[in-house]
Amino acid sequence: ATVVVLASGTGSLLRALLDAASAADFPAKIVAVGVDRTCAATEHAEAAGVPHFKVALNDFPDRAAWDAALTDAVAGYAPDLVVSAGFMKILGPAFLDRFGGRIINTHPALLPAFPGAHGVRDALAYGVRVTGSTVHLVDAGVDTGPILAQEAVPVLPDDDEASLHERIKVVERRLLAQVVAAVATRGIVSDGRKAVIPDERV
Ligand code: GRF
Repeated sequence: ATVVVLASGTGSLLRALLDAASAADFPAKIVAVGVDRTCAATEHAEAAGVPHFKVALNDFPDRAAWDAALTDAVAGYAPDLVVSAGFMKILGPAFLDRFGGRIINTHPALLPAFPGAHGVRDALAYGVRVTGSTVHLVDAGVDTGPILAQEAVPVLPDDDEASLHERIKVVERRLLAQVVAAVATRGIVSDGRKAVIPDERV
């Protein structure tokens, strides 16, 4: 399976995925990395010799034009899967029409709890004792798509946002690679609201 990864941040998730995909027996090939801003993720793509492109919102007259440009840029690689690894933009209708059902996102909380751009901070502020990582399909909402995998992560008494987020990222890096490999080999079966990877062992 061919995969395009979208990122916006430090790219530690992208790096973990690139590392996993470098194994000869990994069932997916990352063919390109797309970013919406200049960020460290681009450096990880360069280091791995993977093509990368930037489609920045402020380079376009409006969101629809950005949505169309991102869709075309990703479509150029004809991916089987699009993986959002810390991509901090809501994917637009053109993108969802083109790739819907095969866009995977990872969120650093146990959805449906604490969706949005500050899931770690919100969980910490709420005082939960357990949070975690969710890997899910992207739909038109914000972190509302069908869940593919989750794993719990404890919140420690002296945690701050950074320490908790890093503990979650350790889980995310493994879980995301596991889900990408599982989906690449076994696909996804959607049953209404639910999405299942056959013979789920993720
Ligand atoms: C990850 O925790 C991801 O779940 C969230 O943004 C973070 C990206 O981290 N959406 P990095 O940029 O890959 O280090």
